[in-house]
Amino acid sequence: MRPVSYAVAMEAINLTDKLALIHEHWSPKIVAELNGQLVKLVKFKGEFLWHHHEHEDELFMVVEGRIRMDFRDREVWVEQWELIVVPRGVEHRPVAEEEASVMLFEPATTLNTGNVRSERTHEKLERI
Ligand code: NI
Repeated sequence: MRPVSYAVAMEAINLTDKLALIHEHWSPKIVAELNGQLVKLVKFKGEFLWHHHEHEDELFMVVEGRIRMDFRDREVWVEQWELIVVPRGVEHRPVAEEEASVMLFEPATTLNTGNVRSERTHEKLERI
């Protein structure tokens, strides 16, 4: 039998309820954890900064609104219920013309601003 060491109860996680707890933009919150990966929710509005992640691929799934993922050579619109994977090492900049809600799935080591440190970097993420 597996030792009970989970910090997380085996319960349904309602994303709408969790999103109602998020009041700032570009500040990811942890909603679940598995296999060293985190599931996060974040609200985007406006332009983020250009960055890349040396070691992590990132998944962005749009749950409300739409976002644009800018790459150096093109831009990709990601609509509600669409997702995009940004491979490690690839420079990107998420943009949301209107507020959008996004689910992220990425290793626990992933920093939101990747290789760039700024006032928009969040090192310690809140769990909601
Ligand atoms: Ni990124």
